[in-house]
Amino acid sequence: MSNKETATPQTATSSTNRSWGGRFSESTDAFVAAFTASIDFDQRLYKHDIQGSRAHARMLAKANILTAEELAAIIDGLDAIEAEIAAGQIDWRVELEDIHMNIEARLTDRIGIAGKKLHTGRSRNDQVATDIRLWLREQTDGISREIRRLQVALIDLAEREADTILPGFTHLQVAQPITFGHHMLAWFEMLQRDYERLQDCRQRINVLPLGAAALAGTTYPIEREYSAELLGFAYPARNSLDAVSDRDFAIEFNAAAALIMMHLSRFSEELIIWTSAAFDFVRLPDRFCTGSSIMPQKKNPDVPELVRGKSGRVYGNLLTLLTLMKGQPLAYNKDNQEDKEPLFDTVDTLYGSLRAFADMMPHVQPKAENMRKAAMQGFATATDLADYLVNKGLPFRDAHEVVGNAVALGISSGRDLSAMSLAELQQFSDVIDDDVFAVLTLEGSVAARNHTGGTAPQQVLHQVANARALISN
Ligand code: ARG
Repeated sequence: MSNKETATPQTATSSTNRSWGGRFSESTDAFVAAFTASIDFDQRLYKHDIQGSRAHARMLAKANILTAEELAAIIDGLDAIEAEIAAGQIDWRVELEDIHMNIEARLTDRIGIAGKKLHTGRSRNDQVATDIRLWLREQTDGISREIRRLQVALIDLAEREADTILPGFTHLQVAQPITFGHHMLAWFEMLQRDYERLQDCRQRINVLPLGAAALAGTTYPIEREYSAELLGFAYPARNSLDAVSDRDFAIEFNAAAALIMMHLSRFSEELIIWTSAAFDFVRLPDRFCTGSSIMPQKKNPDVPELVRGKSGRVYGNLLTLLTLMKGQPLAYNKDNQEDKEPLFDTVDTLYGSLRAFADMMPHVQPKAENMRKAAMQGFATATDLADYLVNKGLPFRDAHEVVGNAVALGISSGRDLSAMSLAELQQFSDVIDDDVFAVLTLEGSVAARNHTGGTAPQQVLHQVANARALISN
């Protein structure tokens, strides 16, 4: 329902006789007609509505419910209407409520009596469920492609920066040195789960409601398997009541979308921190940023900030859909008409956010010098010194204390552990030898974490190859 319509209440009654008008003794109030109509937003489904109608007509002809001539007229008519709509030449009529009745009425205008037969053995209830599934299946594939594009960008960046060192954080405090490539592959992993979730959800989207009719099925000898085959659905829904009322697939999709947006929001947050003057770890291309109208020095990371902000609407849409369904008795209820706007918004937001990230990431430039300097500042190799002492026979808890004392000296004298002399270090433990300096370097620290899932440059390159293989299936 658009604001435009709700903002202008009308008292006149609608004069048009609608397709279901037979049992009514007065026309619908004009405001009620506008209030209950969905054509303002469900026109977006026109291609999928026509696609579903073509398949339904073919099935009816195969089952000898329509003649070959009627089928030909319907197919020609639908083709012409699709072209008309694509060219913006159709006048959507609010009194015809929705996309389904608008197209059907237009078909009957064009081809006469055959057009009136298209709806045989079908209801708008199974029709709309079919349309949304066709549409969402297509969107799922498009969104999956954007995820892949972003994953490729991350893999490329990981490979290029396999041995670039930055501080890794816990509690946003410098923890241990890591490689930039390793960090990019952490993002890759999140997206891989997102991709898999969407593929899993797609299996439950890909089921055919047509044939359920209003709720109980139909008396005509329909062939639902044939409709499913024509539309590329895996199989016809097994229960007609469930088929017309189920919106789990939309909720599931939105839940997967919420997780993706949560991930993108976390990536955004890191990019925002990394581009701040205090960190200055990476450079975002100018074309993904904007300036300030008052502060000439500013370059704001608008794209990540907007993506972080947009995650909220996708979470909101998820709650909208869950709430929409929770009180509904079987089978179809008009409430279901409210499923479309949140779902459309989720798809648009998700697609736009992924696209922005996939376009931007190949051009993100890490500033290796700054990241290195930051890693030098936070005693990032303290754990390495502890591990060194354990290797020389100290229990880990004692080693922890020795290193704590060394760090205290570092803080008071303003130096990193690697900048201390051997004699200085030896005053904390006599097992320390001049081989200690190899483990106190940033390079030594990351290279030592050379096992599956570790941050060593060698592992990063190994995982880059694994990631490439994973996404090529
Ligand atoms: N516009 C409706 C929707 O989006 C189509 C189904 C209407 N069915 C009905 N029995 N009124 O859900």
